[in-house]
Amino acid sequence: MMMEAGEAAVHAAWGDSLELLRAARAETSVRPDERMAGDDGALRSSPPPERYRLGPVIGVGGTATVYAAEQLALQRQVAIKVSSSAHRREAFRAEAVTIAELEHPNIVPVYDAGADWLVMKRIRGRNLEQLLSEGAIGLVEAVEALVKVCDAVAYAHSRGIIHRDIKPDNILIGDYGEVLLTDWGLAVAIEEGVESRPRTQRLGEVTAVTAGTPSYMAPEVALGDRTRIGRATDVFLIGATLYRCLAGRPPFTAASALDAVVQAAWNQHTPLSALRPDAPPLLLAVVERAMATDPVERPRVIDVQDRLKRWLHQSRGEAEARRLLAFADEAMASAQRTERPEDTYARYGEALSLLERASVLAPDDPRIAQRSRECLQRFMLAAAAAGETGLARLLRRGVRPPVVGPEDERIVAQIAELQRERIHLLDRLETMQRRLDDERTRLAALRRLRWLAVIGAAVGGLLVGWWLAG
Ligand SMILES: Nc1ncnc2c1ncn2[C@@H]1O[C@H](COP(=O)(O)OP(=O)(O)O)[C@@H](O)[C@H]1O
Ligand SMILES: [Mg+2]
Repeated sequence: MMMEAGEAAVHAAWGDSLELLRAARAETSVRPDERMAGDDGALRSSPPPERYRLGPVIGVGGTATVYAAEQLALQRQVAIKVSSSAHRREAFRAEAVTIAELEHPNIVPVYDAGADWLVMKRIRGRNLEQLLSEGAIGLVEAVEALVKVCDAVAYAHSRGIIHRDIKPDNILIGDYGEVLLTDWGLAVAIEEGVESRPRTQRLGEVTAVTAGTPSYMAPEVALGDRTRIGRATDVFLIGATLYRCLAGRPPFTAASALDAVVQAAWNQHTPLSALRPDAPPLLLAVVERAMATDPVERPRVIDVQDRLKRWLHQSRGEAEARRLLAFADEAMASAQRTERPEDTYARYGEALSLLERASVLAPDDPRIAQRSRECLQRFMLAAAAAGETGLARLLRRGVRPPVVGPEDERIVAQIAELQRERIHLLDRLETMQRRLDDERTRLAALRRLRWLAVIGAAVGGLLVGWWLAG
C-alpha cells in the first residue's frame, strides 16, 4: 500500500525521466535533469590532441569516462573526464566552473575544460567503493576518509554549493592517503549567497531536481521536493556512505533503479543496527541521525564530522588500552614468577599503573576493571604471604569496587590464613634454629671432651713412661 503510494509520488516527480530510470540499474548515477543518450547528432568536442595525449581509461561513471592523459606542454600526467553524452555540455561546463570555484585540499582541482571534457589532477589510487568491495580498507581508515569528505562538503556548503552525489564511487583515495571528493557534475548553488557565484548552476534553474544515484538517494530528491533539497541532502548522502561502509551494501538495493527510487522516497532501508548489531554504537547513531527522513532532523555536516572524530579518538584510545592491557598481563605473569618480594611488588605496581592508564583511555572496557581487581588481589595475597599484613590490608581497601560479602570474608580469611601459615613457618624455623644451636653446642662439648681425652691420654702415657723409666 505504502509502496504504491510511494510509486505514484515518484512517478509524479520523475515524469519523463521514468523511462530512463526503468532502464537503469540501481547503483548507477541517473541524472534525469540531463537526457542521457546522444541521439540528436550534436557535435562532440574532445581535448585538443596537440595539448593532451590520451592514455588508458582509468574510471567509468554513470555519465562520463575518465582517461589517464599526458599534458604535453608540462609533461605531466593528468586525468581527463570526457562526457558520454553530447547533451551534457551545460552540466559539464557547470561542473568545471564549480570545481574551479572550490579550491580545497579535499576537492580534486580542475586544470582545463572544453565543451565535453575537463582536465583534472590525476589521483593515483582507488575510489572508496573499489577499496570497500576489495576489502582493502578498514573501518578506521574509511571513517578517517569520511572526516576529510566532511571537510570538503562543509567548505562547499559555506560557499552555498551542495554536491548531491556523494557516494563511495566519488571519493578518491590516493596511494599516499590523500582523500578527494570528486564528480561535482550535479553540484548546484542553493539560493542564499548565489550572487557570488554567477556561473554555478542554481537549484532553482535545473529543470528537474530528481537526480543522483538511486541506491543512495535522499527522500526529498526521490520525491522531487525542491523546497526541501539543501545542505541536509548531502548530510543524508554522507550517512548513506557510512551505512555502505558498515553494512557492506548501500541502503536502497532494489533490483531496478525505479524500485530503488521508490524505496528512497520512503526511506525504506533495513536499519543498520539490524544488519550490523556489532557496529560501534556511536557510528550507528551517526547513520541513523544523518539518514533521518525529514531533512530538518538531520545534523549539520560539522556535527557529523565531530561525531566521527569522536569515534576515531575513542577507537584509537581503545586500541592503545588493549596494548597496555597486554603489557599489564605480562607484568602480572612475571610478578608470579619472581621470588624476591621486592621484585614481585615492583611488577605488580607496574601492572597496576599500566591498568590505570588503560582505564583512562577506555573507561567502559569491563576487562580493564576486572584485570585491575585481579591484580590488586594477587598483589594483596603476595604481600600477606610475605608477612606484610599492613600492606595486604591497605591493598584490600584499594580494590574498586570494594569486594563485599562472602568474597571479602574469603579474602580476609585468606590473608589471616597466609599470616598463620607464615607464623607457623617462622615458629618451625625458630625451633629448627634452636635445635641447630643445641646440636652445635653438643658438638662443641663433644669436641672439647675429645681433646681432653687426647690430652689425658698423652699426659697418662707420659706419666706411665716416667714411672717405668724410674
Ligand atoms: N581525477 C581523477 N583521478 C583518477 N581517477 C579519477 C579521477 N576522477 C575520476 N576518477 C575515476 O573515474 C570514475 C568516474 O569519474 P566521475 O567523475 O565520478 O564520473 P561520473 O560523473 O560519470 O560518475 C571515478 O569513480 C573514479 O574512480
Ligand atoms: Mg561518479
